[in-house]
Amino acid sequence: MSTDLNPDDLATAEPLVTRDALRRPLHDLRISLLDRCNFRCPYCMPASQYHEDYQFLKRPDRLTHDEILLVARAAVSLGVSKLRLTGGEPLLDRKLPNLVGGLAVLAGVDDLAMTTNAMLLAPVARELADAGLHRVTISLDSLDAEVFERMSGGRGDLRTVLAGIEAAEEAGLAPIKINVVVQRGVNDHTVLDLVEHFRGSGHIVRLIEFMDVGNRNGWRMEQVVPSLELLKMIEARWPLRAVGRNYPGEVARRYQYVDGQGEIGFISSVTEPFCGACSRARLSADGVLYTCLFATNGTDLREPLRNGADDDEVSEILARTWLQRADRYSELRRTDVAEAHHFSKVEMYRIGG
Ligand code: GTP
Ligand code: 5AD
Ligand code: SF4
Ligand code: SF4
Repeated sequence: MSTDLNPDDLATAEPLVTRDALRRPLHDLRISLLDRCNFRCPYCMPASQYHEDYQFLKRPDRLTHDEILLVARAAVSLGVSKLRLTGGEPLLDRKLPNLVGGLAVLAGVDDLAMTTNAMLLAPVARELADAGLHRVTISLDSLDAEVFERMSGGRGDLRTVLAGIEAAEEAGLAPIKINVVVQRGVNDHTVLDLVEHFRGSGHIVRLIEFMDVGNRNGWRMEQVVPSLELLKMIEARWPLRAVGRNYPGEVARRYQYVDGQGEIGFISSVTEPFCGACSRARLSADGVLYTCLFATNGTDLREPLRNGADDDEVSEILARTWLQRADRYSELRRTDVAEAHHFSKVEMYRIGG
């Protein structure tokens, strides 16, 4: 697959959106609400490191909802039309429906989604939908109870997560996507069962290559199961047909089951990087704007916000940051640049993937 800039993607972008140094528009803002999580997935927050005494951000360190709303408004004024709430685990924010309500009414937002592990979703799914959330993406790595337990760091309960998915469906938070991080020797043997379970449900399973995000998950190439390998395995059982992107810069490659039982996706950041059309900015819970999932540093927005910056001033900082952006880490992964980068990447749970 080509990893270059895709002229088709750019041609469909609005003319006025802010573009970075590689001419990529700013379309997407991913907002991490807090750095805490009720899971300890070993590939993200290994329990040995994120123990009881670990110092997570304190409340005053985190942006308030009003501050997040201001940043989101500023981003929308620059062309962002897609917002995603993440964490850590966003549902640990008990006032989430209020924030969703504020974001949902921003003119220009045509996609308002949340990525969650769904442990706390069932009781609030309806309230979130009523507040204006469009859809949810659920992180669920296996339906094998033992494997699931291990992959959630002993914190997750499979039945509760499945109840969360059901509640999301009843509340209309669709299309529901199921994100599965696949690790060789850990959960790859349970992938087919999971795929079979969700086939025909209307939910879209997306199989994700284990990435070298952050510095603490002990990533090794041997643990990555290339999407192509999974595709062949699945196709041998249920024939698939490739379908086009839903939107420019979509990270998943989409396929439909030939027998009409729905859709499945592959996210192949390791074997087929997709930096060429990357239009995502990420806001951490403490107000740092990152222009790449693998960034070392970001642009602090919290200080200007707390010094009274208004929408225009924040828009200006965002635009300036985006204009200078030249990140394409996944494309450079196997080079000296990536090597030099090894010990200094931002952790995944701080910017929500
Ligand atoms: P949709 O809006 O439904 O297409 O979701 P999404 O794929 O944008 O977001 P989601 O949070 O579901 O991310 C799915 C996986 O893709 C996660 O493992 C992310 O970390 C990964 N991912 C998302 N954006 C990027 C990116 O810009 N770069 C890389 N390398 N991985 C990404
Ligand atoms: N590699 C790939 N995906 C990851 N996620 C978290 N850590 C990794 C990693 N190292 C996924 C989560 C979630 C999404 C936002 O990112 O499972 O679904
Ligand atoms: Fe929590 Fe998601 Fe990280 Fe797992 S991957 S520890 S659910 S933030
Ligand atoms: Fe975007 Fe960075 Fe991911 Fe490339 S590695 S797709 S630039 S977030």
